[in-house]
Amino acid sequence: MTLDWEFHPLVGERVTLDLLRPDDLDDLAALQGDPDVCRYLLYETRSREQVAEILERDAAATRLAAKGDYLQPAIRSETGRFIGTMYFELHSVEDRTAEIGWILAPHAQGHGYATEAARLLLALAFDELGLHRVQAELDPRNTASVRMCERLGMRHEGHFVEHMWLKGEWTDTGHYALLEREWQAARGSEIAPRSDA
Ligand SMILES: CC(C)(COP(=O)(O)OP(=O)(O)OC[C@H]1O[C@@H](n2cnc3c(N)ncnc32)[C@H](O)[C@@H]1OP(=O)(O)O)[C@@H](O)C(=O)NCCC(=O)NCCS
Repeated sequence: MTLDWEFHPLVGERVTLDLLRPDDLDDLAALQGDPDVCRYLLYETRSREQVAEILERDAAATRLAAKGDYLQPAIRSETGRFIGTMYFELHSVEDRTAEIGWILAPHAQGHGYATEAARLLLALAFDELGLHRVQAELDPRNTASVRMCERLGMRHEGHFVEHMWLKGEWTDTGHYALLEREWQAARGSEIAPRSDA
């Protein structure tokens, strides 16, 4: 299989996934500098200077063609306001696998925006790129993220106990995944609503 996908905005009913822009710096720095937001992320809170570097790097990540290629698009609301970021990384071209992740600004949580944004990336993965499997990893204490996986129809495949020393403690990891055939079978349901419905 060959893959060569160049970024284009992914447009949903209420949210759009678009590349990060220099004028997102304030919002991105607020997000990645918030201890509550970062509680279950792999990294500690970041300074504005660190975020500025990351923004420049991630804004240039526009292509999915080889293992390790990734996207870190902004989630924007109907008004165009930055409300968070998604993560999508190609794990293997041969095995057609990718990883997905999500971060939503506290003011935007509780409305289903992150789930809608994730569905846009799952549609990209399965309908546009022809991938076979998309997985997610999380701290099982992150119940909001666990509920997201469940809403997306992702299967709970494993729970690694204290396999990672993170932020001063042994940390568990939950593993979730969705296959292309499961996504297609769920077409038209709450998991994969038709965009034209
Ligand atoms: C994980 C995270 C993105 C989840 O955010 P969220 O706002 O709960 O998720 P959604 O945007 O999909 O919203 C879903 C919630 O909105 C509710 N909701 C309200 N109105 C809704 C609507 N019109 N449509 C859909 N859902 C709606 C849902 O019931 C759901 O709430 P529930 O989980 O209590 O049942 C968020 O908690 C976060 O960014 N955390 C910090 C970063 C982080 O930990 N990221 C994950 C690392 S693995």
